[in-house]
Amino acid sequence: MNVLIYDNEEQIGVAAGNYMCGQVLQKPNSVLGLATGSTPLKPYGQMIELFKKGAIDFSKVTTFNLDEYVNLDVEDVNSYHSFMHKNLFDHINIPEENINFLNGNAKDLEQECADYENRIKEAGGIDIQLLGIGSNGHIAFNEPSDCFQRWSHVVELKESTVKDNSRFFKSIEEVPTKAVTMGIGSIMQAKKILIIALGKNKAQAIKQLINGNVTPMCPASVLQFHTDVTLMLDKDAASLI
Ligand code: PGA
Repeated sequence: MNVLIYDNEEQIGVAAGNYMCGQVLQKPNSVLGLATGSTPLKPYGQMIELFKKGAIDFSKVTTFNLDEYVNLDVEDVNSYHSFMHKNLFDHINIPEENINFLNGNAKDLEQECADYENRIKEAGGIDIQLLGIGSNGHIAFNEPSDCFQRWSHVVELKESTVKDNSRFFKSIEEVPTKAVTMGIGSIMQAKKILIIALGKNKAQAIKQLINGNVTPMCPASVLQFHTDVTLMLDKDAASLI
């Protein structure tokens, strides 16, 4: 695991955005696995910046997002669909038809998850997967549990995750408690992984990710078994390693 520690979020944003764009420069038709949350905001800002400067072209890129809430309208400001459009897709030139999300409003969610895995496979697999990490060690919505869930699946969110995510909603009661998410196997099949953590509340999970046992109780710990992981941390997130 390549562990890089930066002074602040701005520096990580530039480094991570450049890393993602570097992949696209090397392979213009790259398949990018994308994440939501506060962590990727600055990296997405840097990707937009490079696009506006004319340094990068995303017209051949395909994307797959990690997860989506269940039973939340895609147009709702808190859907991950809305988040991605507002913070990245509306500002760069990825063709709409190349953008993929799990549909949390699908009638048959199990079928939707199986179809999503097929779509990833048909696209040739994910070249680089961007990840944040939950304070409880989750990646995407793979919550701590007794076993690793391999492929995309429906999940009940943990109380800690609902609480963490409630900052985006008017009240905690509005936070969906169910989501659809890529599985640990879907993530581990990405050729490269870039994981970013900011802030003291991630320090314990980062310690476990780097130095702990590989256990589904800290889903991110499985990344120890991946051969191409870059971990970008600010000083607070790195404070326990
Ligand atoms: P955050 O979420 O970027 O909003 O901290 C990360 C995650 O829960 O995976």
